Amino acid sequence: MRDQAETLLEWYDRHARVMPWRVSPEDRKAGIRPDPYHVWISEIMLQQTTVAAVKNYFIKFTTIWPRVEDLATAEDADVMAAWAGLGYYARARNLLKCARAVVAEHDGTFPADHDALLKLPGIGPYTAAAVSTIAFDLPETVLDGNVERVMARRHNVETPLPTAKTELMALAEAVTPKNRPGDYAQAVMDLGATICTPHNPACGICPWRDGCEGRLAGIAAELPRKLPKKAKPTRFGIAYVAQRDDGSWLLETRPEKGLLGGMLGWPGSDWNDDPTPNPPFAADWQELDGEARHTFTHFHLRLKVMVSAAQETIRPEAGTFIPKDAFRPSDLPTVMRKVFDLAAATFRHN
Ligand code: ADE
Repeated sequence: MRDQAETLLEWYDRHARVMPWRVSPEDRKAGIRPDPYHVWISEIMLQQTTVAAVKNYFIKFTTIWPRVEDLATAEDADVMAAWAGLGYYARARNLLKCARAVVAEHDGTFPADHDALLKLPGIGPYTAAAVSTIAFDLPETVLDGNVERVMARRHNVETPLPTAKTELMALAEAVTPKNRPGDYAQAVMDLGATICTPHNPACGICPWRDGCEGRLAGIAAELPRKLPKKAKPTRFGIAYVAQRDDGSWLLETRPEKGLLGGMLGWPGSDWNDDPTPNPPFAADWQELDGEARHTFTHFHLRLKVMVSAAQETIRPEAGTFIPKDAFRPSDLPTVMRKVFDLAAATFRHN
């Protein structure tokens, strides 16, 4: 049988997806190397996030901050605002920390070595392997959801995830080639994303169909098996939206630690089973019809929205009045944006 990795690389040469951070297999063979800074940003953004959602954010970040030195000197608030809407905001906080560490500790050059990458903020085993192999063409093995699915099917692994991870990693490592490992890593991910898809895999046109044990067993589409997920609880909260006559909005930067840390938001209650009202100033707060609903990794959130006008003389207990011209709704994380979309119509200057 032909070498598995070579078979996949031939497929990749013809079918590689085009992505703004990627160097095509053709260009790579001509000696063009991807920019490690681009590979790193894209891999951080792609965690728990689709390629389609990432593309424009990647272009925005690399346009505003073309080199790691530019990002390292950016204001925290500007980076958090640029990340707004992408979710998992710890990634943005770590992105900035990592850029600063690369400049301070590595003279602005990303290390190629897996272990050196692992020491940087926000870089775990997956990202270290991805940057090392995609940017520097070192033979590291990446195991993301796509690769897990491809390996589970190819070897008919019925052990459910996450238990199966170690086994799937060993199987993935065994096929990682010395020749073109960076292209190979991207090829397996592309195979998982375009052919070996979660539902209705296109086995008929798969370059690996011949050796696929899951397909032979007739259960490829059922793999990987997964342990049942815990049901998500619902939490409740109250958000307070206030505007002064001059059009400025009462907003706060959320504390670094905790959910949406470092992001802009509306002052509000804690989020729990039965939140205690805590308006940022005393007023005749009006409750809006409807609520802002959002699902986080570990819970569903339902926010009640209270609105009030604010006098110029008010000194709020939480937040700061931000002038209308300095506030862009797109700087808000999605749940806070939903609150704004509910509330905006009730104010004069929106
Ligand atoms: N998902 C995460 N990283 C990727 C990459 N480099 N290519 C394709 N899909 C990916």
